Amino acid sequence: MSTLKNFKQMKNFGIVAIAAMLIFASCHQNPEFKKDEKTEPKKEETKESPEAQVPNRQGIFSQVINVSNIEFDEIKFEAWAKADLTDNNRFQFWVRVDSINSSKPLFFDNMYQRPITENEWKQYTIMGKVGENAQQVVFGGMLFGIGKTWVDDIKIYVRKGDTEWIQLEVKNSSFEKVKSDNKAESWGAFGNYYAFTVDNSNAKDGTNSYLIDGQPKPKHVYNAVPVNERKAIRLPLPDTKGTMTVEMAMATRRSVRSYADKAFTKKDVSQILWAAYGVSDSTKYKGYKLKTAPSAGALYPFEVYLVVNNVKGLEKGVYRYKPANHTITMEIKGNISVDLTDASWGQDMIEHAPINIVWTAVFERTTKKYGKRGRERYVCMDLGHSGQNVYLQATALGMGTCAIGAFADDTVSEIMNIPVEEEILYIMPVGWLK
Ligand SMILES: Cc1cc2nc3c(=O)[nH]c(=O)nc-3n(C[C@H](O)[C@H](O)[C@H](O)COP(=O)(O)O)c2cc1C
Repeated sequence: MSTLKNFKQMKNFGIVAIAAMLIFASCHQNPEFKKDEKTEPKKEETKESPEAQVPNRQGIFSQVINVSNIEFDEIKFEAWAKADLTDNNRFQFWVRVDSINSSKPLFFDNMYQRPITENEWKQYTIMGKVGENAQQVVFGGMLFGIGKTWVDDIKIYVRKGDTEWIQLEVKNSSFEKVKSDNKAESWGAFGNYYAFTVDNSNAKDGTNSYLIDGQPKPKHVYNAVPVNERKAIRLPLPDTKGTMTVEMAMATRRSVRSYADKAFTKKDVSQILWAAYGVSDSTKYKGYKLKTAPSAGALYPFEVYLVVNNVKGLEKGVYRYKPANHTITMEIKGNISVDLTDASWGQDMIEHAPINIVWTAVFERTTKKYGKRGRERYVCMDLGHSGQNVYLQATALGMGTCAIGAFADDTVSEIMNIPVEEEILYIMPVGWLK
């Protein structure tokens, strides 16, 4: 089972954690960080970019403090850490200040440019100016990759102007309060293959410290169907008439993250796949048949996969959609959806939906004609069209779906045995409305 059961569970220690996670991800990739020449290592000092070196798995712990009754414009975070890490594995503290008025944080720092790797107790500080109307301070630490990090004595101060620092109450700041399962009271934590426990053999302050232990992910063996045994399964023809108008579908479409426990039929699968990337005009244009979704230059960069969890007449597994013949071919046998959920931050709608549609792109198909513009613009634009088709088709059929962009690309590719020339882009679980 997934360590993180679902987004509902994440809400247990604050929906903010999701936002935090997404901010980590975006800061991780934010090109602005690369441009910071003051802190960025010089080109000759490193062969790869720092991003390329950071492992893409992380274990995160956090706590939230409500500060809506305090006026301040500066924040200071202090904490001790000691890391037993090798290679590019790293630990970072992080602090975010959320505003009442805006979804944009008033302050965010995750020590991205100064990760913690030293194997001795040291105090680390995060400081910064904060805008007005702060609502909450969210903070914690994250371990990228495998290895151990100990944390102790976390303090947070705020102040306005040149006044004295006011210390905020961090609950269980020295990890002295321990639950029966050896977890720390008052702290939320998540990450597959990460253990968050209290350690009484290695403390900086008091008796205990907090140990974040990142274990290597066990290698899964997926049951790939041998190429010569792959058979095309013809799907029922899709309907081109329905009962809901496109206006109604647009007006009622929402991202739906929980579905009725009811199977799909092959006909349902057929309709969704056709909407995603099916052929709508068999006239060949430059060698391609035109599809339900527009595509720059009619170059159709996507491969579309079907992950079957619960479809009458279809075995659980991963199937490749062949739009030209409206067929599917099984490539992996068995249930991969639990692992797919794990690789997608525990978004367990993937696990519970009867099907998932997964898009990969062969960028080369578009870039060979459009170059950089193809990679940076056209493929993403194409994907939006195809994804929206699935949203509208699902809505029109009384189904629900949700676009998922937050997942560990490499892990999903590994689970689905995606060929190297394809890059994973989108996952959309589809199921019946409850
Ligand atoms: C590119 C993209 C990535 C998204 N990734 C996720 C995701 O990983 N998890 C999720 O629950 N929703 C995800 N969504 C859905 C958005 O949260 C949703 O569209 C938004 O909240 C607006 O709600 P609506 O679709 O109901 O109008 C994504 C949407 C887009 C367009």
